[in-house]
Amino acid sequence: MPDIRAAIFDAYGTLLDVHAPVLARSERIGPHWRRFSADWRAKQLEYTWVRSLTGPAHHRDFWRCTEDALDWVLARHGLSDPGLRAALLDAYRACPAYPEVPAVLGALRGRGLATAILSNGEPGMLGAAVAAAGIADLLDDVLSVEAIGVFKPHPLVYRLPERRFGHPAAAMAFISANAWDTQGALACGYRAFRVNRAGDPDEYGLRGRAPELDDLARLPALL
Ligand code: LAC
Repeated sequence: MPDIRAAIFDAYGTLLDVHAPVLARSERIGPHWRRFSADWRAKQLEYTWVRSLTGPAHHRDFWRCTEDALDWVLARHGLSDPGLRAALLDAYRACPAYPEVPAVLGALRGRGLATAILSNGEPGMLGAAVAAAGIADLLDDVLSVEAIGVFKPHPLVYRLPERRFGHPAAAMAFISANAWDTQGALACGYRAFRVNRAGDPDEYGLRGRAPELDDLARLPALL
């Protein structure tokens, strides 16, 4: 196995806490706020997959998918406050990083690894989130699927870090909290790691093929 030369991270849900915007407004959303947040995330991802599978003419960027998913979930939960919609979208542009993220990125770079994001996010929202989380200086690059206009887990997306860093996938770690994304990276030859903060059941037979972590803290010791 070649040495690992770069650590490529998924952004939303892996480095950035996508449930924080809803948690901070849980009183306005009501007792089902956890379900609201899970539904928002699930619809956002569904829209990316449908748009990719239906062809380039139907592509809309991840910000649009995030807005469309929020509109659906607000309607589904009977919430019509435009101020809430705006506040949630503003907060989504500044999703906080999980607490261990800066130290983990710093440790990896200290060991000479390149660090980058590979995300479905469009460049504007990614730039805003990375700046708000204070991790811009800890990343060599932020790669967006908008470079090719198709979402993960399309195999072409996972080629972007190979092009950027000049390393084969087998010499790079890919770290994601999304099982479907971990599976996508494994299928493209990466050394994949799954972050499973909630202790969810295994998917795609990942256990045994991709080390599973409770959070990112242990990652530097594994690379
Ligand atoms: C990302 C989302 C899908 O690509 O987690 O950052």
